[in-house]
Amino acid sequence: MDVIRIEGGHPITGEVSVEGAKNSALKLMAATIMAPGVTTLVNVPDISDVHIMGKVLKRLGAKIDVAGKHELVIDTSSVDSCETPYELVAQMRASTAVLGPLISRFGEAVVAMPGGCNIGARKIDLHILGLEALGVHFSFDHGNIHATTPNGLKGATVTLEFASVGATENLMMASVFAKGVTTIDNAAREPEIVDLANMLNEMGARITGAGSPVIEIEGVDELHPVEHRVVGDRIEAGTFLAAGGLVGDPMVVRGFDPAHLGLVLKKFEVMGIEVERGEDWCRVSRAGELLPTDIQTLPFPGFPTDMQAQTMCLLALASGESVVTENVFENRFMFASELMRMGGDIRIQGHHAIVHGQKALSGAQVKAPDLRGGAALAMAGLVADGITTISDIHHIDRGYEDFVEKLSSLGAVIERTEVPDPALDD
Ligand code: EPZ
Repeated sequence: MDVIRIEGGHPITGEVSVEGAKNSALKLMAATIMAPGVTTLVNVPDISDVHIMGKVLKRLGAKIDVAGKHELVIDTSSVDSCETPYELVAQMRASTAVLGPLISRFGEAVVAMPGGCNIGARKIDLHILGLEALGVHFSFDHGNIHATTPNGLKGATVTLEFASVGATENLMMASVFAKGVTTIDNAAREPEIVDLANMLNEMGARITGAGSPVIEIEGVDELHPVEHRVVGDRIEAGTFLAAGGLVGDPMVVRGFDPAHLGLVLKKFEVMGIEVERGEDWCRVSRAGELLPTDIQTLPFPGFPTDMQAQTMCLLALASGESVVTENVFENRFMFASELMRMGGDIRIQGHHAIVHGQKALSGAQVKAPDLRGGAALAMAGLVADGITTISDIHHIDRGYEDFVEKLSSLGAVIERTEVPDPALDD
C-alpha cells in the first residue's frame, strides 16, 4: 500500500500555487448536464474526486475530453440516462450533486442514497425537503432515491433548517427551469456556491443573491454551454498557509482569493502568524511563538470546518490551551486521535476538543482519517522529531493534487512510497 513518509525538522519555505476548488469543480461538472452541448471547464484540479465525477457523467451518457491537465471538455448533449449507480455514489458522496441537474433536465432522477463517511452521517434530508417544496415527489427503495415531477417544477420559498452547502446547490440547480421564482432562505454562502451561480448565470440562468443568505432564482427555459474557470481552492491554500505558519519560514501561496479565507487568516494573526494579503496570493511567516486561541466551525463566513484539523495542528504546538468546537459535522475529531500518537495533548469533550499546546511533536506511524485530517498529519510530520509515516493516503488524493510534490518543492523531506500491506500478512 502507498504511504507518505516525512522526515521532520527541515525549513519549509518558498512559493506554491493552488488548483481550482474541489468543492466547486464537482458541482460545476454536474451542472453541465443542464446545458446540453460542450462546456469547457478550466483550472479543474487533477484529483480522484474529479475523476469519479467524470465517471458519473460518462455513466449518464456524457462525453469528456481531458484537453489539458486542468481542462475538461464536457459534452452533455448525449446524456440520456438519469440514473447514478450506488458504486459511484458510495465512492463519493458529492455525486448527489447530479440530483438537481437531472431533475431539471429530465424531470426525474434515480440517485443512490449516499452512505455516511468518516466525518458523519452526511444525510440529505434538507435536499429532499427543499426539492419537495418545488414539486418533486420522492420514493425510496433498495438504497435508491427515486425523484419524479408529475406536475413539473414550480418556484417556491424554501427556508433551510441549516445552511447546507449541498442542499443550497441542489436547490439552486433544480430551480433554474422551475416555473416562477424560487427563494432559498438561510442559504449557504460559501465561495463555491457563488462560483456555481456565476457559471449558471453565464449559461443563461437568472440567479441573484448567491453569497448572501437569500438566493433568488427566476425560472428560465434553457441554458447554453459555456467556458468557465473554476475558482481557486481556498482550503488547499489554507492548508499550505497553515503549514507555513506552523514551520515559521516565509511562504507564499498563489491562485486563490484571500477574502475567501477571511476569518482563517484573522485567526492565524491572533496565533502570532504574520499574514500579507495580495489580490490572488497570500504570504505567511512567523518570528515568535504560536499563541493559543479558540476556534468554532460554522458555515461561511464562519470558520470553515475544512480548516479545523489543520488549525488544530497549529494549536497543538501553541503556548497554552485552546478550545476547538466543531459545529458542522458530528464526528470530525479523528485527526486529534492520530495527533495524540505524535504527542499531541488533546481532550475530546463532545463537540469540543481541548488542546494543550506542547513544545514538540514526535514522528509516528499514523492513518489519514479523511482528506483534511490527512493533510494536517502531513503538516505535523513537517515539524515532528524523526519520521512520520501516513497510511490511508487515498483520502489525501481525493482533494490535493501533487500534494507530496508541492511540499517537496517547499523543502520538505517527503516521499510517497510503497510498503507491504500488513493486512495481507499471512
Ligand atoms: C460540503 O459538504 C463540502 N463538500 C465539505 O467538504 C464541507 O465540509 C461542507 O460542505 C461544509 O462546508 C463538497 O462540497 C463536495 P453540508 P456538504 O450539506 O454539502 C448536515 C471536504 O473536506 N446535513 O453543508 O455535504 C450534514 O450532515 C469536504 O472538502 C444534514 O443534516 O455539507 C453536516 O453535518 C468535507 N442534512 C452538515 O449538515 C442535509 O440534507 C453540513 O453539511 C445536508 C446536510
